Amino acid sequence: MIQKDEQGHALSGADGEAAAAYAAAQRQFSCYVGDPVGTIDAAIARRPDFVMAHAMRAYLFLLGAEPAGFGPARESYAAARRAAADDRERGHLTAIRHFLDGNLAQAARTLEDVAIAHPTDLLALQAGQLTDFLIGDSRMLRDRIARALPAWRPGMPGYHAVLGMHAFGLEETGLYARAEATGKRALEIEPRDGWAKHAVAHVIEMQCRPADGIRFMNENLADWAEDSFFSVHNWWHLALYHLELGDIATVLALYDDPAKIKGGQSPVIFDMLDASAMLWRLMLRGVDVGDRWRPLADAWEPYARSGLFAFNDAHAVMAFAGAGRHDLVEAVLAAEEDAIRGAGDNARITAEVGRPIALGLAAFASGDHRAALDLLRPVRHISNRFGGSHAQRDIVDLTMIEAALRAGEQATAAALVAERADLRPASPFTRLLRDRVETLPAAA
Ligand SMILES: [Fe+2]
Repeated sequence: MIQKDEQGHALSGADGEAAAAYAAAQRQFSCYVGDPVGTIDAAIARRPDFVMAHAMRAYLFLLGAEPAGFGPARESYAAARRAAADDRERGHLTAIRHFLDGNLAQAARTLEDVAIAHPTDLLALQAGQLTDFLIGDSRMLRDRIARALPAWRPGMPGYHAVLGMHAFGLEETGLYARAEATGKRALEIEPRDGWAKHAVAHVIEMQCRPADGIRFMNENLADWAEDSFFSVHNWWHLALYHLELGDIATVLALYDDPAKIKGGQSPVIFDMLDASAMLWRLMLRGVDVGDRWRPLADAWEPYARSGLFAFNDAHAVMAFAGAGRHDLVEAVLAAEEDAIRGAGDNARITAEVGRPIALGLAAFASGDHRAALDLLRPVRHISNRFGGSHAQRDIVDLTMIEAALRAGEQATAAALVAERADLRPASPFTRLLRDRVETLPAAA
C-alpha cells in the first residue's frame, strides 16, 4: 500500500511506521522543536529507500548554512537517487542538487515549481522559504507562501506552519499589521511554532515596540524556549528589545546564559551569527564586553576559510576583529577572494555585497571610520542580497551611524540618524544618537 504524508502526497519507499516518523519529523521541523534529524534517521533506518526521508535529512543539514552540513546532505542525496521516486520527489532531489552545487537561487526556483504543482507540499514551502531567506529574496518569502494559501484550509495538518511562514514573508515586506495578525493566528493553532513566534517578534522589532516585545516573548516562554533548536535566535530577539531600552545588564545576562543566547558557547552557525551580531551592537554602543569576543572567535575559527556564505563571513569578521585576531580577518578576506572567483551564487553575492561589508566592518574595527563609511554606503541598500532579515542587516546601518559619529562627519551622521528616527520615532536609542549628533561640531 502506498504511504502518504499528512497532506496526502505519496511517499515512495515508506511503510506505515516510517511514514509516521516522517510526519513527526515534519512537525518538529515546522515548529523548530525536538530532534528532527534523529526522528528522520529512524525512518531511514527502517526504510532505506524512503526518498522523502532522505530529502528531508538533506534539507535539515543544508538549510542551517553550515559548511559541515554539505557532507551529510550529499550522502542523503546520493541515497535518495538510488531509490525509485515520483515527479514531486524528483523535484525535491533536483532542488537539493542545485543547493549542493551552490546554486541557491536555482534551488529556490525548483522548489517554486514543486509547490506550484503541489501547493500543500509543506516541505517544499518550508525549504523554499528558508532558501529565500539565505539569498535575501524578500518578495518570495511572502509570495511563495501566498500563492499556496488557496489550497490550504484551517484544520489541515501543518496549517499553522503555513500561516507562520506567511507572517514572516509579510513582515519582511513591511506589511506589519497583517504579519502580526497572521503570526498570532498561527500561534493560537500551535503555540510551539517557533517560526510564527519569530515572525511576530520581527514585527515588534521593526515597529520599535520593545516593551510589547518583552511582554510577548515572556508569554508562554516555555513554548518557544524549551527543546527548540531555534530558541537562541528568539532569545536574541528578546535581547534586542532590552538593548533598545538600554538595559545592558539584561542583554549581557541573556548573552552569557548557556540556556539562552549561549554566547561563545555554541558551535552552531546560526547561534554564532546571533552572538557576533549582539556583541557588535554592544561594541557600537560603547559597552565594554570584556573577554567575550575571544571564545566566540575560537568558535568561528574553523570557518574562517570556508567562503561558502557571505553572510557567515561578515559575522566571522565581527568576531575576529573584536577579538583582535587580525590573522583570521585576513583569512576570511582571502577566502572571499577565492569565493568570488568560484562558482555558485555565493561568488556573485560575495562580490556585490559580502566583501564590501566584510571590509567595512574590518575598517571600522581598526579605527578607520571614514573608510568604513565609504565601503558600507554603496551596499547597504542592496545588503539584502547576502541574506538574513531586516533586523539582522540593521547592523550595517548601525555601523554606518557609529562610523559617521566617530569620524566627526556631523552632516552624514545627522542624515543617517534622521532616517532612523523617521522609522523608529519612539526609539530611546535613536534619542541617544540624536544627542550625540548635536554635540558634534557642524562642518565649516
Ligand atoms: Fe530573526
